[in-house]
Amino acid sequence: MEKTILITGGAGFIGSHVVRWFVQHYPQYHILNLDLLTYAGNLENLADIEHEPNYHFIKGDITDEHFIAQLFAQYPIDAVIHLAAESHVDRSIMDPLAFVRTNVLGTAVLLNACRQHWKTDPDKHLFYQVSTDEVYGSLGPTGYFSEQSKYDPRSPYAASKAGADHLVRAYFHTYQLPVVISNCSNNYGPYQFPEKLIPLVIRNIQQHKPVPVYGKGENVRDWLWVEDHVRAIDLIFHRGKRGETYTIGGHNEWKNIDLVKLICRCMDEKLGRPPGSSEQLITFVKDRAGHDLRYAIDASRIRQELGWQPSISFEEGIRRTIDWYLSHQEWLEHVTSGSYQQYYTQQYIVREQTQSS
Ligand code: NAD
Ligand code: TYD
Repeated sequence: MEKTILITGGAGFIGSHVVRWFVQHYPQYHILNLDLLTYAGNLENLADIEHEPNYHFIKGDITDEHFIAQLFAQYPIDAVIHLAAESHVDRSIMDPLAFVRTNVLGTAVLLNACRQHWKTDPDKHLFYQVSTDEVYGSLGPTGYFSEQSKYDPRSPYAASKAGADHLVRAYFHTYQLPVVISNCSNNYGPYQFPEKLIPLVIRNIQQHKPVPVYGKGENVRDWLWVEDHVRAIDLIFHRGKRGETYTIGGHNEWKNIDLVKLICRCMDEKLGRPPGSSEQLITFVKDRAGHDLRYAIDASRIRQELGWQPSISFEEGIRRTIDWYLSHQEWLEHVTSGSYQQYYTQQYIVREQTQSS
């Protein structure tokens, strides 16, 4: 069946994988990629598919009500897969209002446009909210987040995503807008902006720079290969129940320090450096404010109902990720110029000075 699907944030890390997947797997769908191209959005991520006939890029801001209304008037949008967001916890600590604006207001503007344009035929439409496990807060050493977990966000990023999720649910209950939400654990893989842990560590090791580990490195994250998240999004988009939530995770918990050491060992091998040399770059720095201790997902619902499971092991995914970054130096140079440099100075140089004073 033909459909016009608006994917927001399609020039970002996960969004670019989602756009590529839908463009390549569903030639009958017209994919509109709406992205503001903030520091995190990069059209080079989609250079391989930019000339496909079922793909179209639109630069614009999801918080601009007038612009979004025009977009819905111009295109027969059947469904929205909403990924556009401010997505980095550390930035949310520095500038929380930017997160409220983009993540809460931006989601509300999109929901409102859908409500106004999708008055009939609810089966034809879907607003898919791509969210995070961070809305559930922080786990102790045991237990898992699942669809039943209570929302308990603890960073401005998590709170802004939680606010957006609540609006999505409110539009379902109040206006019967057809919606679905998924809450996924930490993703990794190609095209991730190198301010997030894994690409940052790879890049710093390559450049012989200190590898910053917050606190004692005891915090735990559940890592998922980005394309496995995309396969889950595809299944939920096509077969998920309206008004419901699906939690997605890799069953792949790593303490930050163990993960960083794994990357160090792989990098020593790949770069032909003496074993143990990259580990010497590890530098413990001041902890993140309100740093959530542990995230871990119980993904049994999506496994049982939709037959989803991660497709590759973490060791394999990390090797592929390292290979990708080492062979995409030009991409790295392009995304790490300009505003990212200013952010890096504020986040780490100032932090290291605070730590040592
Ligand atoms: P990202 O920061 O790499 O990409 C976000 C994209 O949104 C960028 O291309 C940016 O230009 C765009 N954008 C930002 N503000 C915009 C605006 N006002 N209008 C239009 N576009 C705008 O983020 P990501 O890591 O790819 O995450 C994508 C989504 O998935 C987010 O909603 C995030 O909360 C969610 N998520 C991420 C992870 C993860 O591990 N990265 C895990 C679970 C859920
Ligand atoms: P990050 O990639 O920012 O994802 P999130 O905070 O959304 O989980 O960070 C992953 C973990 O790594 C988190 O516990 C914070 C930690 N971390 C560091 O120790 N050093 C760093 O330089 C960064 C960016 C993160």
